[in-house]
Amino acid sequence: MKTVLITGANRGIGLEHARRFAMQGIEVFAAVRDPEQAQELQALVRAHKGRLTIVRYDAAQADAPAQVKQALDGRPVDLLLANAGASGDRSQTLGSLDMEDVLQLLRVNALAPLKLAEVLSDNVAGSQRKLIAIQSSQLGSIGNNHSGGRYAYRISKAALNMIARNLASDLGARGITVVALHPGWVKTRMGGAEAPIEVAQSVLNQQRLLERLTPADSGRFFNHDGTELPW
Ligand SMILES: NC(=O)c1ccc[n+]([C@@H]2O[C@H](COP(=O)([O-])OP(=O)(O)OC[C@H]3O[C@@H](n4cnc5c(N)ncnc54)[C@H](OP(=O)(O)O)[C@@H]3O)[C@@H](O)[C@H]2O)c1
Repeated sequence: MKTVLITGANRGIGLEHARRFAMQGIEVFAAVRDPEQAQELQALVRAHKGRLTIVRYDAAQADAPAQVKQALDGRPVDLLLANAGASGDRSQTLGSLDMEDVLQLLRVNALAPLKLAEVLSDNVAGSQRKLIAIQSSQLGSIGNNHSGGRYAYRISKAALNMIARNLASDLGARGITVVALHPGWVKTRMGGAEAPIEVAQSVLNQQRLLERLTPADSGRFFNHDGTELPW
């Protein structure tokens, strides 16, 4: 693996992925909404001179994927890790649903990664590893949904799962492997302090999994520990 591109790399799971990949000498493109505020990432850039590049990426903006493509300037991308996501604080329970909130979360969590994968598919196809990993959530699993609620988030991640599966079909002919991931319930701003899994553990597990993926795994949905999840 020579080059990876990670969205949402300024904090939480995305930042830890950037840190671990940079430590391994891998070139990291860290796509973040607000580069000026990404202080931990800026410190990483200073610590790993030349190995980390910060790229502006706001998933709510339609032209964001094209801007990322431009910043890559034709570089092959071994791993596109579409990690950025929001949990949405509104429209999660019956009785409080506002369609605009739901659509906004769908745009950020599902449509933006789809467009990014479409726009960067040539960069990935031109790389050695040819991997696209979509940071989904178990809450997007229809088969595993026995508790209800979380409407906007679940809808956006279920759509994202369909996108991962569809991309796997459409990009397989170009040698690209596409998987959906669940990082576990992780101690981040999104996961909250009561989450049982540390960021470092989830990311270590995910990177071990990413290392051993083959084209035969394309179109599958994996927990961080490598077990398969139902769609
Ligand atoms: N933590 C968990 O337990 C858990 C469980 C299942 C799935 N996940 C998934 O894992 C991924 C990472 O989550 P996390 O736990 O690391 O959460 P986090 O600490 O809240 O980080 C979320 C990241 O996504 C970025 N982001 C949000 N909206 C964005 C937008 N419009 N444009 C660009 N970037 C945006 C954030 O950037 P800003 O700083 O600019 O907001 C931040 O970098 C998400 O896709 C999440 O759904 C997490």
